[in-house]
Amino acid sequence: MIRAEDITKLFGRDPAAALPLLEAGKGKQAIQAETRKILGVSRVSFDLRPGEIFVIMGLSGSGKSTLIRCINRLIEPTAGRLFFQDPSQGEVEITGLSPERLRMLRKHHMSMVFQHFALFPHLSVLANATYGLEVQGVARDERQRRGQEMLELVGLGDWASASPAELSGGMQQRVGLARALATEAEVLLMDEPFSALDPLIKVNMQQELMRIQARLSRTILFITHDLDEAMRIGDRIAIMEDGAFVQVGTPEEILVNPRTEYVARFVEHADPTGVITAGTIARPLAGHRRVDGYPGLEIELDEQGRLRGARHEGRALRTGFLDSLVDEPPPATRHADRLLQCDTHTSLRHVLRGRLHSTLPVLVLDDQGRVGGLIDEPLLITAILDKRGPDAASPATREVIHE
Ligand SMILES: Nc1ncnc2c1ncn2[C@@H]1O[C@H](COP(=O)(O)OP(=O)(O)O)[C@@H](O)[C@H]1O
Ligand SMILES: [Mg+2]
Repeated sequence: MIRAEDITKLFGRDPAAALPLLEAGKGKQAIQAETRKILGVSRVSFDLRPGEIFVIMGLSGSGKSTLIRCINRLIEPTAGRLFFQDPSQGEVEITGLSPERLRMLRKHHMSMVFQHFALFPHLSVLANATYGLEVQGVARDERQRRGQEMLELVGLGDWASASPAELSGGMQQRVGLARALATEAEVLLMDEPFSALDPLIKVNMQQELMRIQARLSRTILFITHDLDEAMRIGDRIAIMEDGAFVQVGTPEEILVNPRTEYVARFVEHADPTGVITAGTIARPLAGHRRVDGYPGLEIELDEQGRLRGARHEGRALRTGFLDSLVDEPPPATRHADRLLQCDTHTSLRHVLRGRLHSTLPVLVLDDQGRVGGLIDEPLLITAILDKRGPDAASPATREVIHE
C-alpha cells in the first residue's frame, strides 16, 4: 500500500550536506557532533501491506513523529523515496507529487489522527466528524449520513448535536477517529492517538479500533511508545532507535527473539501471555507412545499421527480440545484424568487456563491435526519468565534478558 525506500530526514541548515556521513555509517550522535545537524529519520525502508496495522514503537525522540509526517510530506524527507499504491491509478511516487496532487492524496487517500486531536469548538460533534468530507466536497446529505454512521461506529451516535466542550478527552479522540474514518481514506496515519488517555479508556479505545478495523479493514500506520499497546494491536511492529528501524517483526518474533539490547530492554517487562503461541514453546514428543517426564502416560496415535486415545497409569483418559473449556468452570481438584489438545496458534494465556483442568501436559497439533509436540508446566514457566521456547534465542540475547 505504501512503500518507503531509504527515507532520511536531517534537521538543520543545508541538511543534505550531512548525507555522506550517513552513507559512511555515522550515527545520530556523530553526525550531530560533526555537523550540528539532527538526524530525525535514518534510512528507513518498509512496506505497508494492505489491511495491516503496522506499529512503530520507540522511546521519545527516536524519530516516530518525524517519520510518519514524512509519509504524507507534512515534513519533506531529505532523501529517499515513497510510493503509494493508488487503487485506481496504480503506483504513485509520493516524493515526486506536485503540491496540488499531494493535497488530493491527503484529502482522499490518507487521514491522520494526532495525540491531541484538535476539534473545532464552535462546530457540533457531527460537523467535526464530517469536516474531512466537507473538504472533499461531498454533498450535505451524504456527509451527514456517513458522519452519523461513523459516530455510531465509535460509540458516539447520541452525541451528534453536542458541542466538543461537552465531551471528555477520550470522547474527543473518538471524534478524531470518526473524522479520519469518514473520509474513507485507505491509509490511516495515527501518531500516538491514545497516549494521552487514562489507562482504562486507552484499552477501551484499542479494542474499539480492533473492532472497527475488523469491519473496515483500512491500512494503518500506528505510533506508540507503549509496548503492550503495540503488542495488542500490531500485526507487525517496527522498533525505532536514533531514527532507524532496529527490528521489524510480528509481536511474537520481537518478544521471543529481540535482536538488540535496546529491543530486549523494551520487551523485558512485557506480558507474554497474550503474544507467545503454543507452537513456539512446544517440545517434540520423545517417542511414539511414551512422553518424556510422564512415565505413566501412554498415548495412541493413528497412521496419520492424530490422537486416537490415551491412558494414564492404566486408566483411559478423557481427551478434548482446550477451546471447548472456555465456559467450563475448572474442577475443585486438578487430576491427571484429562488430556487436552490445542493448535499451534493458541496463546499462552489459553494454555495456562487449560492447566486449571488437568495436571497432564497439553498436546499441540500441527495444521493437519497431527500431534506435533507438547507443553508441560516447566515449558510454560520458562516461556513466562524468559519469554522463549525450548530452543529459541541465542545465548547472547538470553544474557541480556536475564540481566
Ligand atoms: N523541527 C525540528 N528541528 C530540529 N530537530 C527536530 C525537529 N523535529 C524533531 N527533531 C528531532 O528529531 C528527533 C526525532 O524527533 P521525533 O520524531 O519528534 O521523535 P518521537 O516522535 O519518536 O518522539 C529528535 O532528536 C528531535 O529532537
Ligand atoms: Mg512523537
